[in-house]
Amino acid sequence: MDAFTSNLLGWLCVGVTTLFGVSVFYTAKRSPAEKANLLLWSLLPTLLGLLCVAMLGTGGGLVVFCTMCLISVYLGNRALLPVGDKAVLITGSDTGIGHALAKHLDDLGFVVIAGVLNKDGPGAEELRRTCSQRLSLLQLDVTNATQVKEAYLKVSAKVQDTGLWGVVNNAGILGLPADGELIPMSTYRQCMEVNFFGAVELSKTFLPLLRKSRGRLVNVSSMAGGIPLPRYAAYGASKAALSMFSGVMRQELSKWGVKVAAIHPSGFRTGIQGTADLWAKQEKELIENLPADTRQDYGEDYLLELKSYLLHMPLYCDANLSPVLGAILHALLAKRPQGLYTPGKGAYMPLCIFCYFPLWVYDFFISKMLSPKSVPRVLRTSEAASKDL
Ligand SMILES: NC(=O)c1ccc[n+]([C@@H]2O[C@H](COP(=O)([O-])OP(=O)(O)OC[C@H]3O[C@@H](n4cnc5c(N)ncnc54)[C@H](OP(=O)(O)O)[C@@H]3O)[C@@H](O)[C@H]2O)c1
Repeated sequence: MDAFTSNLLGWLCVGVTTLFGVSVFYTAKRSPAEKANLLLWSLLPTLLGLLCVAMLGTGGGLVVFCTMCLISVYLGNRALLPVGDKAVLITGSDTGIGHALAKHLDDLGFVVIAGVLNKDGPGAEELRRTCSQRLSLLQLDVTNATQVKEAYLKVSAKVQDTGLWGVVNNAGILGLPADGELIPMSTYRQCMEVNFFGAVELSKTFLPLLRKSRGRLVNVSSMAGGIPLPRYAAYGASKAALSMFSGVMRQELSKWGVKVAAIHPSGFRTGIQGTADLWAKQEKELIENLPADTRQDYGEDYLLELKSYLLHMPLYCDANLSPVLGAILHALLAKRPQGLYTPGKGAYMPLCIFCYFPLWVYDFFISKMLSPKSVPRVLRTSEAASKDL
């Protein structure tokens, strides 16, 4: 490439960058102050680009310029708004992620409104005891329309001066993970009730306040809501519905200045892993509701193994909740929050394989990673018979 062509290319790049900046500036419907800010941020890179090309020649100049752009995009994504007197409502603060988030946001100076399933329970008591006077507790079962309405009245009275900045739909239940054929209909319904309808009703109720503050809606979905995982038909389907709701709301609410994020954590050690007593009760319900021939086909030992999978689950889950707390905090405070966060070990890679590879690659990967060790009774017998042949 001769010097003339290479110079021409360099100026062409700078010209395109300028045109892009100017068109973004003119199409953005923003306040005069924001426009001035935007003008600065579109002029600065253009001037820097011109300077780089003039001083280092086309090749070197463009490399330096592109690197600076990438760094500034990275830094821009990390920029956080001040906490100030921002008020945030969190559901399901009795235990786990919601409980830890309430404490963390309180430490950072937020006005936390912690929704709890049981206002007299140990989780609520601990928040009362350990957090600042700013934190208030709210009796809030997200499946109870009356409690949601009462919560709205209390919160709107409390934040009438400052507004409500954020809502974190965190409350959720797991239900006994099992083959989709075995999960009782009641578990499918409960998962949808809490994980999906609860979050939708709460969001719809509080959106007028969020639109006023141009605030944030954060939906704690799950890794299982973004990819199909064996044994999570009920939980995964309810979380997939929540993630889709989140995506659509993100698009629709952008015109109001409200930013919406979905969080897809992997495994964290919390109350969701339940207790031996809880799983024993759910297992009993599952077995009792099975038709006799299904129970026969799967076999008693396969059914009893479902619970042991759950009892071992905490071993594979991270006790440190900070990745998920960090993701929620970023979604609440970042100037440019992501639409989707995947905190925790192994949350991102399976999603990439699911999105970018043929389905059989994903299914093979999951069968190697997650397939249960035990095999239904009928399949065991037919395997043994085919070996004998
Ligand atoms: N931990 C993980 O590995 C993981 C992974 C992906 C996604 N998540 C999601 O993260 C969120 C928080 O879960 P977690 O892990 O912190 O589990 P957790 O400790 O069980 O917390 C869930 C909280 O929601 C509450 N809750 C249940 N039903 C409710 C209702 N109807 N209304 C209001 N609150 C209700 C629970 O109260 P009780 O304790 O009184 O039942 C509990 O305090 C859930 O949405 C969950 O699906 C967790």
